[in-house]
Amino acid sequence: MEVFPTAFDLEIDRLDMNSDKWSKYPQEIIPMWVADMDFDSPDCIKAALKRRVDEGVYGYTHVSNALESAIQSHLMSHYGWQVSASSLVHLPGLVCALHLSVRAFSNQGDGVIVPGPVYYHLTKAPLLADRELINVDMVLQEDRWVPDMTMFEAACAKSNSKMILLCNPHNPGGTVYRKEELLAMHALAEKYNLLVVSDEIHCDLILDDLSHVPFASLNKEAANRTITLMAPSKTFNVAGLGYAFAVIENVTIKKAFNKEKNGLVPFPNMLGLTAATAAYEEGQEWHQALLKYLVGNRDFLQQYLASTPLKMSHLPATYLAWIDVSALQLSDPYTFFLEAGIGVSDGKDFGNSNYLRLNFGCPRSRLEEAVKRIEKALKKVQ
Ligand SMILES: Cc1ncc(COP(=O)(O)O)c(C=O)c1O
Repeated sequence: MEVFPTAFDLEIDRLDMNSDKWSKYPQEIIPMWVADMDFDSPDCIKAALKRRVDEGVYGYTHVSNALESAIQSHLMSHYGWQVSASSLVHLPGLVCALHLSVRAFSNQGDGVIVPGPVYYHLTKAPLLADRELINVDMVLQEDRWVPDMTMFEAACAKSNSKMILLCNPHNPGGTVYRKEELLAMHALAEKYNLLVVSDEIHCDLILDDLSHVPFASLNKEAANRTITLMAPSKTFNVAGLGYAFAVIENVTIKKAFNKEKNGLVPFPNMLGLTAATAAYEEGQEWHQALLKYLVGNRDFLQQYLASTPLKMSHLPATYLAWIDVSALQLSDPYTFFLEAGIGVSDGKDFGNSNYLRLNFGCPRSRLEEAVKRIEKALKKVQ
């Protein structure tokens, strides 16, 4: 069956949908901030949701064997990663799992290692729990953002260090970690006995011909000290349905995780479970078409930016361009873009105010309009 590429070209009006993304700014601003795409979800998800809604009874709902099997098949077929159904923990979102992992597996004053700039909940999780946030700088090496490994090792060696929060693929910057890089981090986690919490929410958004390697899939020892966090929400645009999952092979860690979770973290929403099942069982074709469309958007944006003083390192994954605006020497780059008519994410929120993050998960026509606005604004300062 042909998937229509034009489905991604459709400009859907989200103004009446109580969308976080679309309510933040006045209508004339193009919102390109939060990691939420402007595309319709695949037909298989919409049909499954309609069927479930039509059933009319919405009581407490448990996770089906079908969903667990679909997750297992997805992880095996995409990453060659075999996980047991008993290692799955179902969640209403991924962020709560970052925070609860920090609270369950460290004490006040313990060190939590976080390579950044990074999605802000990875740094917020230790700070809100009064842990020491041990930052490790991400540095550009051959146009790839990678942790400064000298700093990483020093962080691991600190006597109070308890865990590493990793974001793979990395947001922002889109790093798809290579196996040897993960092995190097794993060796340090072993040496200093650190838990690894690996946020892999963007793992199905690899734009280059690269493979995502789940940290826990490296070997038995890595699986034994890792909590992997994943979700269909970014890939299939179903963040509003509230579903994510953790893979925790180590029984003791899983027990402690559940102890912290139970009674506080609600069970995932029934419709989130329905959407996730449809996504992993039937969403393949749509997913492939999405990746192709996003590659087109990324290449279009990167090509345009190459003709300006703005620098965008190559983005191998995600739809979140990480743009260096330092050459413009602006006191407030975020407001400069806003005044140009584009609502991006301020790099300051991730840890570097010389950068902006631009979400290109939108129809090409909207991205073209954004580029026109950037072009116009740049003329004023050049
Ligand atoms: C790296 C990363 N983790 C987690 C989340 C959010 O997860 P959730 O909506 O499931 O809480 C995001 C959203 O942008 C993200 O980029």
